[in-house]
Amino acid sequence: MENRNHPPEGYSIQLMSSEHFAEISRICEMVYPTERPYSDEDLAAHHSLFPEGQFVVVHEESKEVAGAHFTLLLHLSHFHLDDDWETLTAQGTFSDHDPSGHTLYGADLFVHPKHQHHGLAKMLTNATRDLVARQKLWRMVGGSRMPGYGKVSKEIAPDDYIAKVKKTELVDPVLTAHLHDGWEVVSAIRGYLPHDEESAGWAAVIQWINQECTPPPEFDISRIPKKNS
Ligand SMILES: CC(C)(COP(=O)(O)OP(=O)(O)OC[C@H]1O[C@@H](n2cnc3c(N)ncnc32)[C@H](O)[C@@H]1OP(=O)(O)O)[C@@H](O)C(=O)NCCC(=O)NCCS
Repeated sequence: MENRNHPPEGYSIQLMSSEHFAEISRICEMVYPTERPYSDEDLAAHHSLFPEGQFVVVHEESKEVAGAHFTLLLHLSHFHLDDDWETLTAQGTFSDHDPSGHTLYGADLFVHPKHQHHGLAKMLTNATRDLVARQKLWRMVGGSRMPGYGKVSKEIAPDDYIAKVKKTELVDPVLTAHLHDGWEVVSAIRGYLPHDEESAGWAAVIQWINQECTPPPEFDISRIPKKNS
């Protein structure tokens, strides 16, 4: 069995280029069946705005794209903690990318179903953390789906669900992987991906602080207001 503490063998991280676009869209159709997949135009726009923040992992033998992690830079203080994905990504265009932002926002992370459970999400997350370190950013923030929540949403409040996942009393297909990759949960939010029925419309705001560059107190994420509080 592969050693899970080492990067998976046979895969390499690359920056996204146009040759990857079609495969990325096909993976999105599989992992997000209720969402419109990225078009070539969307991906070309992300690439032109922030090429160093768009990562793919490639299966070396087949040369297939196995997964991707897309990021942009934001001043999170310009947003609400519970803003949805459309707002944080400027309707998926990434045109709100702000090169002077202190927060690397993880807009998307996905792995082709046949390549899941090989440590590729971790490999992609580590690539984004290297970017945070290189650019001396304060933190990385994302919205984690919680696709196990829909099945229990009538019985458990979202915060209690997250607490149980943290305590490993429950396993969530996405949030558990993020927690094992060193993210901390800031808050449950509603409506991040409104069509995400598996997550009952809920998500967890997650963050990772760059310990080499700790943010000053006024950047404490818990001080960012919610629009629905
Ligand atoms: C969430 C997602 C990105 C995880 O991708 P992944 O590549 O399977 O993630 P990893 O392999 O790094 O980690 C997943 C699990 O596999 C385990 N794993 C890692 N290497 C492994 C190996 N060699 N053998 C077996 N299992 C392994 C990890 O320990 C982890 O388990 P854990 O959650 O108990 O820690 C993927 O499920 C996905 O694309 N989901 C659909 C899209 C989505 O919802 N994205 C998230 C948006 S917020």
